[in-house]
Amino acid sequence: PDRYAVIGNPIAHSKSPAIHAAFAEQTGQDIHYGRLLGALDDFAGDARRFFGEGGRGLNVTVPFKEQAWELADARSPRAELAGAVNTLIRIGDSGIRGDNTDGVGLIRDLTANHGFDFRDTSVLLLGAGGASRGVLLPLLESGLGRLLIANRTAAKAQQLAELGATLGPVEGRGLDQLAGERFDLIINATSAGLSDAVPPIPDDCLATGGWTYDMLYGDAPTAFCRWGAEHGAKRALDGLGMLVEQAAESFFLWRGVRPETTNVIKGLRQTR
Ligand code: ATR
Repeated sequence: PDRYAVIGNPIAHSKSPAIHAAFAEQTGQDIHYGRLLGALDDFAGDARRFFGEGGRGLNVTVPFKEQAWELADARSPRAELAGAVNTLIRIGDSGIRGDNTDGVGLIRDLTANHGFDFRDTSVLLLGAGGASRGVLLPLLESGLGRLLIANRTAAKAQQLAELGATLGPVEGRGLDQLAGERFDLIINATSAGLSDAVPPIPDDCLATGGWTYDMLYGDAPTAFCRWGAEHGAKRALDGLGMLVEQAAESFFLWRGVRPETTNVIKGLRQTR
C-alpha cells in the first residue's frame, strides 16, 4: 500500500490515523497511514527521510506546520497566505508540494455539516496566532460580509488583517475594542481553551441567532462552547468536525477521492 503518516511532537494522541483508516476502508483505497514522532530539532530530516523511503504524503501538526511550509518546494495559495502547511504531497519523483486544509475544513464543517450560510455575515475571529492565520484565506473567500480579527495583543491582529486586506473585508483590533459590536459567528482560534479559559469578550457581542465555533475539541464541552451556550448561541460547535474535514481534504488531495465524513465524525463522538 502507499504510505502516509501524521508527523508532530507529541503525536501519541493524534486521531488522524483512525480518521484516515476509516476513509481508506470506506473508499476502498489501499493505503497505510501511520504516526511519526518528529524530532524537535530535526523536522526536515524526519520528513525528508519519510519521503526518501517512498512515503506519498504527510499531515503535519504542532509544532511543525511552519517548518513544513519552509520544506515544501511549492505551495498552494491558501498555504502561502497561512504561512503554515498541514499537508505535504509528493509530486513526481522529487518534489514536495505543501497545502493547508485547515481553513477549508473549518468552512466545510460549518456550511456542509451544519448549514451555516456565510453570505453577508459579520464574523469575529478570536486570536492572531498560527491557528487564525491558517484559516484566513478560506474565511475571506467564504462570502462573509465582514471579518474582524480580535486579539489580546492588538498589534498582532492588525498585522494579520493587513495580510488579508487585499483579499477581503478584514480588520484587526484588540479584544478590549469590541464594545457595541455584534457578530453572527464568533470563531475561537486562541489557545486560551487549553487552560479551560475563554478570551475576555463582551457578554453581548453575539447577535441574536448567532453561532459560536471553537477550533478546539475535547471529551467534554470546551470552555468556549460553554460560553456560547451560556450566551444564547443558536449553535455552539467544537472543532471535531473541522478536524475530520481537514483530514478529508488532505485525503482528497492525495487520492483524488472525497470520503464521506458524517459517519466518521459520529464515530469519533461516540468513542470518546
Ligand atoms: P496557535 O498556533 O494555536 O494560534 P499561538 O501562535 O501561540 O498558537 O497563538 C495563540 C493565540 O491565543 C494568540 O492570539 C494569543 O494571544 P496573544 O497574541 O495576545 O498572545 C491567544 N491567547 C492565548 N491565551 C489567551 C488568553 N488566555 N486570552 C486571550 N487570548 C489568548
